[in-house]
Amino acid sequence: MTRHFLTLYLSIVIVLAAVSWGQDRLWRSYGSAPESELPQASALTILDRQLQAVPAERRADFVAAAARDTGLDLELLEPQDVAGAATIGGLARGKPVLMEGADGRTWVLQRLEQDGRVLALRYASQPQRRLPEWVLVFVFYAAIALVIMVWLWPMSRDLRKLERSTVRFGDRNWSFDATIANRSPVYPLATAFRRMAARIDGLIGSHQDMSNALSHEIKTPLARMRFEIELARVAADPEKLQRHLDHLNTDITELNAFVTATLEYAVLERAEVALNIATHDFTTIVPVLTESVKRGARADLGIQCEVDADATAVICDVHLMETVLRNLLYNAIRHAARQVRVTFAIVAQQRYRLCVEDDGPGIAEADRERVFGSFVQLGRPAGEKTGFGLGLAIVKRIVEWHGGTVHVEQSTLGGARFVVDWRVR
Ligand SMILES: Nc1ncnc2c1ncn2[C@@H]1O[C@H](COP(=O)(O)OP(=O)(O)OP(=O)(O)O)[C@@H](O)[C@H]1O
Ligand SMILES: [Mg+2]
Repeated sequence: MTRHFLTLYLSIVIVLAAVSWGQDRLWRSYGSAPESELPQASALTILDRQLQAVPAERRADFVAAAARDTGLDLELLEPQDVAGAATIGGLARGKPVLMEGADGRTWVLQRLEQDGRVLALRYASQPQRRLPEWVLVFVFYAAIALVIMVWLWPMSRDLRKLERSTVRFGDRNWSFDATIANRSPVYPLATAFRRMAARIDGLIGSHQDMSNALSHEIKTPLARMRFEIELARVAADPEKLQRHLDHLNTDITELNAFVTATLEYAVLERAEVALNIATHDFTTIVPVLTESVKRGARADLGIQCEVDADATAVICDVHLMETVLRNLLYNAIRHAARQVRVTFAIVAQQRYRLCVEDDGPGIAEADRERVFGSFVQLGRPAGEKTGFGLGLAIVKRIVEWHGGTVHVEQSTLGGARFVVDWRVR
């Protein structure tokens, strides 16, 4: 902070001082009055007139008396005391001439018409600064320092906060806890960092879930396979051997499905997918897809589909949105008792809303957030192996890419109601 303050302050002070010095020089070079208009020159002209009536040998005394009486620094110089061709030339023309003295004072010279001697009046060309002026200068520069402090201090404080949080985050704390006011200049940076931290946190979480799932979903079939191989080795007849080989084959299929699903999800998770956004007629897409899923469902299940008649130009990546609908429908069909309902509408504030609900057991309030995590499966009955808990995680990712949200609530049918919302661009 001190270093930044000093650098900025010194730069401003140096620039200001240079500009005011330059201005002063310019003003003096181009803005000053000609010699003949100076009040000092007029005083010399009057004195010159008076000296005309004074005898030559008493003129020096007259000038000394005038100097005493008026307090002016007056002198009568002999012609040889004046040096410089320009000065001598100017005097010869009978004009008042200015001469800079080494002590920062200025001489006005005027040649006496009567005897060629030169009248000289010395004065301070630059008025000397007095104490109040110095105080004013000090106040001016102190005010600049104050303004810089007022501007720099909150920013430097927020930057320090941000730095501390970043260091904590880097120390594997995995949560970004800096609170920075939204009027701070650092606020956009903090927001961007918070978003990045949340994303990293999410990635680490899903990595954790993935490794847990890996150990469970891979180790279990592997252990079963080892067991089947042992049994196959000692199988007495070809029929038993065939059965063990079939079990092995089932486990391999299961492993393969897990690896494929995990890899597909990993691609989505890395956010490497470029959205293929276009307009699509949902009045046909949604019913056709629902119908195709219905064909693979239990016959006793009633699947209703209601789509707004004006949903003929819905903006989305249709391939990904079909995945969303399909995943939600698979879940609903799996958990429904008798009924599933799909609705699509354009709601207030230019938003699309896709709902999939059923009359199954629903999802407990405590699990409604968690259920969208990867590899999360709620209360899977022992022995029943269905999916890997990736369906809803995929739904969430896709909806986020569309700038939308997804949540689950209680359906009027009695089960779960998944609501996907995204904005018309
Ligand atoms: N409609 C629903 N009703 C009740 N529970 C549900 C419903 N949909 C999902 N769930 C619960 O949420 C869990 C996670 O669902 P998700 O779709 O992510 O995984 P999955 O269906 O188990 O496996 P996958 O989709 O990978 O085949 C499910 O295991 C289930 O317990
Ligand atoms: Mg699923």
